[in-house]
Amino acid sequence: MSIAPESTGRSVTKAVIPAAGLGTRFLPATKAMPKEMLPIVDKPAIQYVVEEAANAGMRDVLIVTGRNKDNLSNHFDSVPELEATLQRKGDTDRLDRVHASSELAEVHFLRQGQPLGLGHAVGRARMHVGNESFAVLLGDDLIDERDPLLTRMIEVHDQREATVVALMEVPEELIHLYGCAAVNATADPDVVEVTALVEKPSPAEAPSNLAVIGRYVLRPEIFDVIDRLEPGRGGEYQLTDALNVLATGDGDRPVYGVVFRGRRYDTGDRASWIKANLLLGVDNEELGAELSDWVIELAEQLRARRSD
Ligand code: UTP
Repeated sequence: MSIAPESTGRSVTKAVIPAAGLGTRFLPATKAMPKEMLPIVDKPAIQYVVEEAANAGMRDVLIVTGRNKDNLSNHFDSVPELEATLQRKGDTDRLDRVHASSELAEVHFLRQGQPLGLGHAVGRARMHVGNESFAVLLGDDLIDERDPLLTRMIEVHDQREATVVALMEVPEELIHLYGCAAVNATADPDVVEVTALVEKPSPAEAPSNLAVIGRYVLRPEIFDVIDRLEPGRGGEYQLTDALNVLATGDGDRPVYGVVFRGRRYDTGDRASWIKANLLLGVDNEELGAELSDWVIELAEQLRARRSD
């Protein structure tokens, strides 16, 4: 049973996590496992994202799955035999951690069918979401829990009755990897009005250095726009294209961007994933000291090797 927004006093209670991409940048690791299940320190990436949604007040999480969905759904189920073994051994610490993943939120699953693009995956959530605003969180973008972005986005959505995307300044040479926003400033230093969006532009075409990162607070009108969408870049139904329709004035309400200046870890390609593990590893309570010493030693060895 899902929790109706009016009963909680919150405007956004549902989160959608699309996890049906092919993860080609991570092959062969993602041949039989979604990239959202790759571990970051000691938890699969998707668990961080479900935790983030729960921390922002969402108790109803819909994960859109593709092939290999069993891995994902098993992770959020309870595992009585594993829990009984840990109980028998008196390993309460690990038992609590195993428990935690099945108690975060009410997690639902939906098949995308075919990986026709992020816009298509979000469109599949229509029946579950209904006529409400909802959050979309991408599982390969981790936002540090010390820098709460989604809460701020929901606040801006409520104040301005608008669709809200998360933006981050990126170097010019990296903008072709992201959706990019044309914007006007507002009186709030971290909020901009989005006037257009373009998916993965060349540096010459890019209207700004503001990249769309994987958090969105969407109003239900997005579903009609997605239904009318033509395939875009790469032949896929792009969420950026649907948002561009709203930003350029085809919706009742405007699109705003929250400019995020906190810690974000991209985990969608190999180098970024390794960096994310190190960055979160050195901050980890149990592993931090050991890992930090090792990283410093490694850096010294690499520096010496370079100067040889
Ligand atoms: P990406 O483009 O980063 O994911 O999609 P991908 O296609 O799996 O990655 P590569 O480029 O092949 O390595 C962004 C997000 O949208 C989801 C992905 O799972 C990821 O979280 N997605 C993408 C879907 O759910 N369905 C799709 O059809 C495409």
